[in-house]
Order: sequence, then C-alpha cells, then structure tokens
Amino acid sequence: MKSALRFVLMGGVLKAAPRILVHGHRGARAARPENTLPAFEYAIAAGADFLELDVAVTRDDVLVVSHDPVFNPDICRAPGGSRVIRELTLAELRLWDCGSLHNPRFPSQQPVPGARIPTLDEVLDLAGSGAFGFNIETKSFPEHPELTPPPERFAALLLAAIRRRRLESRVVVQSFDFRTLAALRALAPEIRRAALDERGRCDFVSLAREAAEAQIVAPAFALVTPEKVRAAHAAGIEVVPWTANAAPAWDCLINAGVDGIITDDPAGLLAYLRERNLR
Ligand code: G3P
Ligand code: CA
Repeated sequence: MKSALRFVLMGGVLKAAPRILVHGHRGARAARPENTLPAFEYAIAAGADFLELDVAVTRDDVLVVSHDPVFNPDICRAPGGSRVIRELTLAELRLWDCGSLHNPRFPSQQPVPGARIPTLDEVLDLAGSGAFGFNIETKSFPEHPELTPPPERFAALLLAAIRRRRLESRVVVQSFDFRTLAALRALAPEIRRAALDERGRCDFVSLAREAAEAQIVAPAFALVTPEKVRAAHAAGIEVVPWTANAAPAWDCLINAGVDGIITDDPAGLLAYLRERNLR
C-alpha cells in the first residue's frame, strides 16, 4: 500500500513531496517514432500522466496527429503529390510512412515500420486504457492561414472530437496561437487551456491572461525560475514546461516547483522521480 503523503528534503528543508505530472512529449519520442500510436501506447504503459500531441487538419477536415503541417523528410516517407497536410485528404495522407525512419536525435528510438499518422480520434480512443490525460496542441500559424482552418473552425472540430468521447475533464488544449485558445474558451470554457511560450517576453501571469485566461502556462523549460513559478501559483496558474529530457533540467524544474514536465522520455522521468521519492 502506498502512503498518500511523501516527504522530501528540498533546499535542506523537509517538505511534502509535490506531485509532478509527467507529460509524454509526442507520446514518447525518445523511444518510438513521434506522434504515432506506438509512441502513445509506450507512454501509457510507462505510466505517463498525460499524452502530449500535436494536431493538424486535412483537406477533408479530419484532425490528425502531426507536429509538422508539411511533410518532414527526417521522419516520414511519402509518395509524390502535395506535401501539405491541409491539401491532402486523410486517405492520401495515410500513404505516408512515419515509422520507418530512425530519428538520429534519439538514439534509443525504436522504428515501427509502416506506422501512419494517426487521426486524433484514434489517439482519443486510447482513453479506455488508463486514467491519463491528453495535452493536445493546436498547430496553427497566424502567418500561414493556408495551413489550417480558421481558429474558430479548428476549435470547433477539436471540441467535437473531445465531446464525442466525453473527455472534457481529461483534456488540456495548448497552443502558441492564442486565437485557438480564445475560440475554444468561447465554445467550451470548461476545457483547460495552456499558453505555450518560447520567447519569454512577459511574466507567466501576464502570459496566461493574454492567452484567453489560460489556467496553465507552458514555457520552454529554460525560461522557468522559482520566482516565476511562485508568482504563477499565487495567481492560481499551473506551470508545465517543455521539453526537458535529462537530469540537470529535471532537477532545476523540480526545485523551481513546477506542476508538470513535458518530456520525450516519460519512462526515464518517472524512474527519476521515483528514485527521489517524488512518485
Ligand atoms: O508541449 C509543448 C511543446 O510540444 C511545444 O513545442 O514544437 O514540440 O510542439 P513543439
Ligand atoms: Ca507540441
């Protein structure tokens, strides 16, 4: 039987251990091809609290799980034709093989030949295999409206997929494009929103306000300081940085008091937290 409350020494003081949620980035990119069903299944089996995933939209308005809005030759193989997801039907996009190529940035990544870009529906269908959440990023680009539907349509498509499965309470929607967060808030204020940031141009509280009153800020991990986290917490805002993959960064974030960590290596981070009595 596990004890409900754990204690750890932090800065020489014995404190109640925080529960830091582990988000598997693109599923578990360190172990399986990113944003594929095998990557999400791996993250679930490892015990990740959230699956982080990126969403694009096909020409026939199907939400699909891809970081890149256009063909990325480093991770996929494809026959000829358009390389832009928004210009392809789902059937055409399914010809891409995004599991055979080994991503050299992740030496432990195990290829899964033939893996296709999944639909968001297929990923959400994994909900029954555990109590984890979904951290869904709308990949939308104000400077490139041709790559996605307008923000209101994007949000409506996403909301329909979430509601079909009654997953509202298990979903966080994150974006760099705050227009999609504002559109989602107007349609479904009950779904939690996260403001992504990589530039650090303002404090976390202002960032959340700017992003349709997001309940979570998700900065690049190097932007995190204990002071910024404290100020966010004082305003009731959670901090879930990305994408930290090794012990030095994990230590900084743990000591800063973050609420979650987005990592390509959810199994590694979970083991690290367990070793430190933080799980
Ligand atoms: O979860 C946030 C992180 O995924 C944002 O960066 O480029 O990996 O989608 P990116
Ligand atoms: Ca992402």
